[in-house]
Amino acid sequence: MREDFVDPTTRDAGDERADTALRPRRLSDFVGQTELKNHLSIVLGAARQRDEAADHVLLAGPPGLGKTTMAGIVANEMGAKFHITSGPALERAGDLAAILTKLEERDVLFIDEVHRLSRVVEEILYPAMEDFQIDIVVGKGPAASSIRLTLPRFTLIGATTRTGMITGPLRDRFGLVARLEFYEPDELRQIILRAAGILGVRIDDQAAAEIASRSRGTPRIANRLLRRVRDYAEVRADGNITRAVTDDALQTFGVDPLGLDKVDRAVLRAVCERFGGGPVGLSTLAIAVSEQPETVEDVYEPFLIQQGLLARTPRGRVAMPAAFTHLGLTPPDRAPELF
Ligand SMILES: Nc1ncnc2c1ncn2[C@@H]1O[C@H](COP(=O)(O)OP(=O)(O)OP(=O)(O)O)[C@@H](O)[C@H]1O
Ligand SMILES: [Mg+2]
Repeated sequence: MREDFVDPTTRDAGDERADTALRPRRLSDFVGQTELKNHLSIVLGAARQRDEAADHVLLAGPPGLGKTTMAGIVANEMGAKFHITSGPALERAGDLAAILTKLEERDVLFIDEVHRLSRVVEEILYPAMEDFQIDIVVGKGPAASSIRLTLPRFTLIGATTRTGMITGPLRDRFGLVARLEFYEPDELRQIILRAAGILGVRIDDQAAAEIASRSRGTPRIANRLLRRVRDYAEVRADGNITRAVTDDALQTFGVDPLGLDKVDRAVLRAVCERFGGGPVGLSTLAIAVSEQPETVEDVYEPFLIQQGLLARTPRGRVAMPAAFTHLGLTPPDRAPELF
């Protein structure tokens, strides 16, 4: 059995509660993503001055980096209502039409996993985004007719973990397309200290820095590790989170010095050991670690690539020398085949 407390794909009930409690509400409370904050403050400021809805925004990036949080902040900063739905929840054209017709002027509609919208629903979205109009078909067969409805001016925020899967026409209709980047350890340290303050946890700066450096660049994981270390501190120590308590706790929970969890290590181990360093195809690799190819690609690989442990090449995934060293293996003499 794998422990999936650090698995960013699953969100347990504790995460859901913590996510809500820990979400920053204002742009100024949102740590990191400086470029995105900068762009948004201009776009939102201009929209407020003109007393208009802000332009549509597409947020892309791996899970847990703050896409939902940022969408909520946009609504809050615009003083607008925040409506949430997701690509897979909108099965039929009518589902989207029902939501769109309930919107009020300047409301923010957040569509999570926007790359999973069906074709029919996506086609309703195009004129809604561009001209704030939708065509609704009334009746069936030869008697069917279509009526055009004008919608209030709203802001659509789409979130996706897979930019590559957004169709061109959809992407082109967003006024701002932003990619969220992994966070720097120092930014994560600030996020952890802020969360500890909200949760009423006593933690010293060194301990916060250590959790930060093992959080895979991801705020959701930082918050989750903080809660696990707090549990450990309460049961095995005096409740205060020190550097020593942190090290023991993270070791107990199987989080290694780079912050890699069991699945991350299984991915690296498979490429290094079973496939001789690669190249190995994504689907073969996914089978080797008993995960879905999309999960390996969206959730595990981005951080491993960012850390210089793994590379994507036209012929498959390749382990970098650092991956061998991290696993305590000797890197092969030949250079990795990157082309
Ligand atoms: N910049 C930030 N500052 C402080 N906390 C943050 C920041 N970004 C994210 N968080 C925290 O991390 C958690 C996860 O963020 P969020 O749910 O917005 O991620 P997401 O990108 O929408 O993930 P998913 O793709 O899984 O939906 C939230 O609890 C939020 O409080
Ligand atoms: Mg989200």
